[in-house]
Formats: sequence, C-alpha cells, structure tokens
Amino acid sequence: MISVIIPTYNERENLKKIIPMIHDVLKDRDYEIVVVDDNSPDGTWEIAKELSKEYPVKLLMREERRGLATAVIDGIKIAEGKIIVVMDADLQHPPEYIPRLIEPIINDGVDLVIGSRYVKGGKIKEWGFVRRLISKGATFLSHIAVLKLRGIKDTMSGFFALKKSAIEGVELNPLGYKILLEILVKGNIRRVREVPYVFEKRYAGESKLGSREIFGYVKHLIQLSLWTGDFWRILKYVIVGLSGLFINLLILYSLIDLRFLELTLGIFNIHLPNQIKAFTIIVPKDILVKVLAASVSIELSIIWNFMLNNFWTFKDRTKKGWNAVKALFKFNLVSVGGILINLAIYTLLLTTIGMHYLIAETIAVFVAFAWNFIINDTWTWDYTNHRLS
Ligand code: GDD
Ligand code: MN
Repeated sequence: MISVIIPTYNERENLKKIIPMIHDVLKDRDYEIVVVDDNSPDGTWEIAKELSKEYPVKLLMREERRGLATAVIDGIKIAEGKIIVVMDADLQHPPEYIPRLIEPIINDGVDLVIGSRYVKGGKIKEWGFVRRLISKGATFLSHIAVLKLRGIKDTMSGFFALKKSAIEGVELNPLGYKILLEILVKGNIRRVREVPYVFEKRYAGESKLGSREIFGYVKHLIQLSLWTGDFWRILKYVIVGLSGLFINLLILYSLIDLRFLELTLGIFNIHLPNQIKAFTIIVPKDILVKVLAASVSIELSIIWNFMLNNFWTFKDRTKKGWNAVKALFKFNLVSVGGILINLAIYTLLLTTIGMHYLIAETIAVFVAFAWNFIINDTWTWDYTNHRLS
C-alpha cells in the first residue's frame, strides 16, 4: 500500500484540485491519502472530509499551527502504507511524478527517492533570483554541515518517497522544518536516488515559508551536524586555520625582526643586494626582505596547517608517505584557490552592488573558507565511503 502524506494550512482550493489528480495517477494501486491539517482558518479540513466520501482520504486534524515537518511526521505515524510519499498541497509538486518516485523503491530496492529540481531534467518554473539564491545557499550549507549529504543535489526538496521501514524505530526531531534532511540524516537509509521533476507555480493561495523557517533551518542544520559529529570536524578545521594565522605571524616576525632570514642566507653565503629593479619599480632591501619573508612564512604555515589537519581534523583518513606529499601539494593548490575565490567574490560584491568593503570581505572569507573545507575534505583527504548515493 502507498500512503501519500499532504500537510495543509489554508489550502482549500488546492486540496479540491489535487486529490482527484492523485486518484487519477494511483487508482490502479492500493493507496490512501493522509491530509494533515492544522485547523486552517479557511476550513481546509471541511474539504478533506467532503473528499473522503469519494476518495480514500484520511484526515488528521491538529489543534493549532505546528509546522510542516511535524505535520509530516504525525501523518506518517497514522499511515498504513509500506511506501510513503510526501508532497505539498499547492500543486508545485505535480502528482504525475508520483509513479517515478515509487518505482525505484518497488523495483530496485532503493530506500528513498527524491523529487529533484537540481538534477538533469529538473527545473523551477516561477522563482525569482533571490528565492533561487536562498535555495542554493541553503543546499550548500547542508553539504558543509553534514558530510554524507554531499552527493545529494536537492537536499531541500519537499517532494519525496520512502520505505516506511527506513524510519521505523527512529526518533525524528519534530522541531526541524526540513523533514527530508531529518530523514536522510537519521533514517536507516543506504540507497538514495534523485529523480528530476519540474517545480510548478503555486496553484492557489500563498507560500507559508518565512524568515522564521529560515532561522529555524540554520538551527536545525547545527543540530544535525552535532548529531552526526561533522560539527566537530569543522570546528577543528577552524581552529587549525586560526593557529595557522598565528604561526604565519610568528615566523614572519622571526624572519624580519629577529633577522633570521638574512642570518640563514648568510650561512649559505648569499647576500641580498641593497635594491633590485622589478619591471620599472626600484625595490629597496627592507621591502625585499619583507616580501621574501612573507612567502616563506605563508608556505610554512600552509605546511603547518596541513600537518595538523592530517593528524587531527582528518585523523580517520591520515595520509602517509608518498600520499602525504601528494595531499600536501593538493592542499597548497586549494589554499591558492581559496585566495582567488576570496578576491573574486570581494571584487564582485564591491563592483556589482557597491557593498561596504568590510561586509564584502566577511562574506568572501566565509565562502572561501566553506569552499576550502569542502574541497579539502572531498579531494585532498578523498572521502567516498559514507556518502549517500
Ligand atoms: N499542517 C501544516 N502546518 N501544513 C503546513 C504548515 C503548517 O504549519 N506550513 C506549511 N504547510 C503546508 C502547506 O499548506 C503546503 O501544502 C506545504 O506545507 C508547503 O508549504 P508552502 O508554503 O507551499 O512551501 P513552499 O512552496 O514555500 O516550499 C515548499 O517547497 C520547497 C522546495 O521544494 C516546501 O515543500 C519546502 O519544504 C521545500 O523546500
Ligand atoms: Mn508551495
């Protein structure tokens, strides 16, 4: 049996339209529809009652508005089907895709199938630039916060199907808004598939997604990251980065003020000229010393960071021998890439929207850091093991 869970809040007109459409798609199978309504002021529940005379509709009424995610969880609790489909009432998730979501579960033993806007063939019809950016940003954050989500393109989807057995006995935290994330992270899920679909225009009424949901999402991500332990890896990476800054400055100070650079060169009988000519600029000796010293201290601090990350942050994947040399080379490239990304974003924000340079640099540092972490995690310390796919 298939149970289709539909959370509703003020979706009267949409419900009238979607239930017959779902019936059309599923009428040859054993199915039920569970409508979870939070006592909508527009009387959505009356419509559900009405429709239940003609269609296999179950209504779960909750006293007050308690959020999308808990509505889905409560709906799953009373569902009788072995396969659960979760979808919105507003027809942004077109019912004709339901068979494509459940087929891989029935035929290929997949545990969870995601209706995805971000795989080939998937699309979003109506959203403007800002909403798209928020969605992409939120997806990016989820990939940083939880390692095993990194193979999944549309972690934000609200349209998916799963084996009910994958979450039986699993305690799901009803605080979260993004129920799919909760299930992906905590459920007993080994095989996931993404199936493209086109995210349509809302048929009637308006979206319930507001700033409260966005802040709730960040909190939810941190919770999940703590739950999986990924949070601690990121924290270690940050600590290593800060220690690298300290080492960099310390080395720079010894090379310049303690005159280590000239002393060392002196041992090899190398003496710096009083000035050199670079292109058309005359570079005096003290600047030359400072630039050389900075190059040395940058490279040494990169090596320092690499060592700490190799034996601490990524101690479950420590590189040894020749592999360590290769990883150090990659780590160097990623560091240079990070600087370029930082500069690119900084310049872009300054020139396109005239942002204040301090805010622009803060954003640039954050994005470059996140990029750095992801690439080092996946490429330098190549992980493939625990990824969902
Ligand atoms: N019972 C109940 N209680 N239902 C709710 C509540 C609530 O507090 N809040 C929202 N819903 C229902 C809506 O009535 C609708 O059927 C569904 O949840 C989705 O709400 P929308 O307001 O239409 O959300 P959206 O279109 O902005 O976002 C949707 O699409 C995104 C992209 O796939 C959601 O599915 C998001 O989770 C998803 O990320
Ligand atoms: Mn919607």
